[in-house]
Amino acid sequence: MNTSSARFISGLWRIAQWGMNPDQAAGYVSACLDLGIDTFDVADIYGDYQCESMVGAALQTNPGLKSQIKLISKCGIALVSAARPSHRVKHYNTCHEHIIASVENSLSCLGVERLHQLLIHRPDPLMDADEIAAAFEQLKQAGKVEAFGVSNFLPHQFDLLQSRLDEPLRTNQIEVSLLHLGGLFDGTLDQCQKLNVTPQAWSPLAGGALSNQSEETPLGRALIRIGHEYSATREQLAIAWLLRHPARISPVLGSGKVQRIRELVDAGKIALDRQAWFELLEAAQGYPIP
Ligand SMILES: NC(=O)c1ccc[n+]([C@@H]2O[C@H](COP(=O)([O-])OP(=O)(O)OC[C@H]3O[C@@H](n4cnc5c(N)ncnc54)[C@H](OP(=O)(O)O)[C@@H]3O)[C@@H](O)[C@H]2O)c1
Repeated sequence: MNTSSARFISGLWRIAQWGMNPDQAAGYVSACLDLGIDTFDVADIYGDYQCESMVGAALQTNPGLKSQIKLISKCGIALVSAARPSHRVKHYNTCHEHIIASVENSLSCLGVERLHQLLIHRPDPLMDADEIAAAFEQLKQAGKVEAFGVSNFLPHQFDLLQSRLDEPLRTNQIEVSLLHLGGLFDGTLDQCQKLNVTPQAWSPLAGGALSNQSEETPLGRALIRIGHEYSATREQLAIAWLLRHPARISPVLGSGKVQRIRELVDAGKIALDRQAWFELLEAAQGYPIP
């Protein structure tokens, strides 16, 4: 096992697109474990509410995997879907009843008794922090969720929820990559570092868009040039750039190809020089820092 892989998470959002049968999906989970990745990210809504059942079917073909993996799921987004006929409009729902029902459903679909982490998927303008805290407490007491976190929260929203909780929130899962720099400058990653909360980076390769940066763009050129210096692919460099951040970011890798996951895990060995980090930042921003 590569010890540097301890910070990586496997994201299963796209699993429905991978065309895998349950045996093959279990093989993917096994291969991630072999690479040292034991944490898997899903959400109630992924795959139009089908992803958790697909993961559950995979685990059912090899139940021994269940004790080896940690599952993160999320709740709080309500999609208009044939799977949820009562939803008239896309909305957020972080009320007590919805959180409990969503977790019960996630556990049943996944075929496990407990989630490693439950995240509130997006900040809800109608979020009642006391109500969420009561739901978290009930789930913790029932042994259904080990720990809690949030996703896509700004620091003031994180502070509001944390103010009502006895236990620390464990993560803020945010979109951050060379093509999404907001979290570096809006206080989100600073807050994580201050509180020793591990940020999780979703779409760390910008959903594949980083692979398509041509040599015509400053970022494409910088990734290729610096990649040569480090003998790294542009994707490995983009991951190394995230790992260099002092908030100790955990990238949530979204590829369905084990060979690509292996390459990205290897990026953990790249010690990116400070100036190379800033060259990539400048190329990504399109202008020099002040
Ligand atoms: N909290 C939230 O709001 C939120 C939102 C979105 C996602 N997420 C989580 O974040 C996870 C990762 O998101 P993501 O899938 O957008 O991540 P990503 O790693 O940025 O993108 C993965 C996509 O890039 C493609 N890709 C192209 N070239 C690649 C290469 N050389 N190496 C690796 N991938 C390459 C992959 O295709 P192949 O499969 O063909 O390799 C895949 O479609 C999701 O699974 C989900 O768990 C969370």
